[in-house]
Amino acid sequence: MNAPIVAGVGLRLEDLHASLRDPGLDTMNFLNEVAHRFPDAVSFAAGRPWEEFFDLDALPRYLAVFQRYLSVEKGADDRQVRRTLLQYGRTKGIIHELLARNLSLDEGIEVDPESIVVTTGCQEAMFLALRVLCATSDDVVLAVSPSYVGLTGAARLLDREVWPVQETENGIDLDHLVAQVMAVRAAGKQPRALYLVPDFANPSGMSLDPDTRRTLLDLAAEHDFLILEDNPYSLFHVEDSPRVPTLKALDTDRRVVYFGSLAKTCFPGARVGYAVADQLVSAGAGVRLLADELSKVKSMLTVNTSPLAQAMAGGKLLEHGCSLEAANRAEIAVYRRNMRLLLQGLRKRFPERHSRGVRWNFPRGGFFVVVTVPFIADDAMLEHSAREHRLLWTPMSHFYAGGGGTNQLRLSISAVTPEQIEVGLDRLLALVEEQAR
Ligand SMILES: Cc1ncc(COP(=O)(O)O)c(C=O)c1O
Repeated sequence: MNAPIVAGVGLRLEDLHASLRDPGLDTMNFLNEVAHRFPDAVSFAAGRPWEEFFDLDALPRYLAVFQRYLSVEKGADDRQVRRTLLQYGRTKGIIHELLARNLSLDEGIEVDPESIVVTTGCQEAMFLALRVLCATSDDVVLAVSPSYVGLTGAARLLDREVWPVQETENGIDLDHLVAQVMAVRAAGKQPRALYLVPDFANPSGMSLDPDTRRTLLDLAAEHDFLILEDNPYSLFHVEDSPRVPTLKALDTDRRVVYFGSLAKTCFPGARVGYAVADQLVSAGAGVRLLADELSKVKSMLTVNTSPLAQAMAGGKLLEHGCSLEAANRAEIAVYRRNMRLLLQGLRKRFPERHSRGVRWNFPRGGFFVVVTVPFIADDAMLEHSAREHRLLWTPMSHFYAGGGGTNQLRLSISAVTPEQIEVGLDRLLALVEEQAR
């Protein structure tokens, strides 16, 4: 229920920051609010991780494991351990060395821990990078479109332009990328960086093949822009699809700023993410790491990421030898099973390709599948679907800044049981049949 309007200072929305009038900023709240109103609906909407393995009893253990790491590996005495966990702390974080080990083990990325900034979720890392890299409003960011709303939203808060680059079956249309880079320059602006999720993107589920990754890195060098690689999902690949190296693992030129999130591999409640920013920044006679510039902004934004939250994530990392792949074996099995069941279930209900005008893509991992339907899948249709069919999904149009995805919906497999997948797909079929009448 909304709070009653009471008398007091009156503010006008027009006088507040322009981003507040951008429907993009309402996306998360709108989707949460619909889910809240229809709690008994089957939800393919939430991109949240599987929570059945969340274990409150593990938290004291993680804390103890991290405390032991501080005292044994880092040589801290009791007083220093207490201070590290309970005081204001190092702006760049206290689990950077563990994250560097993790990146080496799970991703084949070798980085100096000093180039890592631990952030309050990956969301903060995106904000810091945009703040630091875009000096003026002439510095724009390119983003593979459809794009994750966290990136476009952060750019909006910072009054920075995001120019879309079309997606293809290979994850990115490289010709369109070059055309957009030229168009940005022709408009008298600078393309500072390209944002993308190369592995099982949110929202599309698409991935870049290895050749496309290498060509993209070459193009970034040729046209002189950075790459912002966001990688929350790469561990969740399906069985028969081998891992492909991340852009950062292929980056010999320090051209990739890498964003990590522990939301899907630990638990989102910790709000721990990070940026790897090993680019060199010359300052007078000296040279610094871009991570140190991000850290300056962070010191004025969130000061430091909660050390208690970092300790939980750090303890979990340590318990698994710093491999998040090892820590997530059970979750990986759930996501694989769910992806298989969803794709099989779609084929069962829509047996011909294009049957009833319904098509979908075949992600090789991650949380999301995009379904194209023969009707407008907008917010009003979502409301109808929730009310009449008890079925939630996400309209793809939320992920296109300049319009697009009007007859597409995103289905998430991460937080549903096999039974819910079956019931939910039956309801999707009923919705499609109803709309065809
Ligand atoms: C592509 C992408 N990047 C970043 C995030 C957010 O990460 P965090 O929860 O660490 O802020 C998400 C979460 O859904 C995501 O899908």
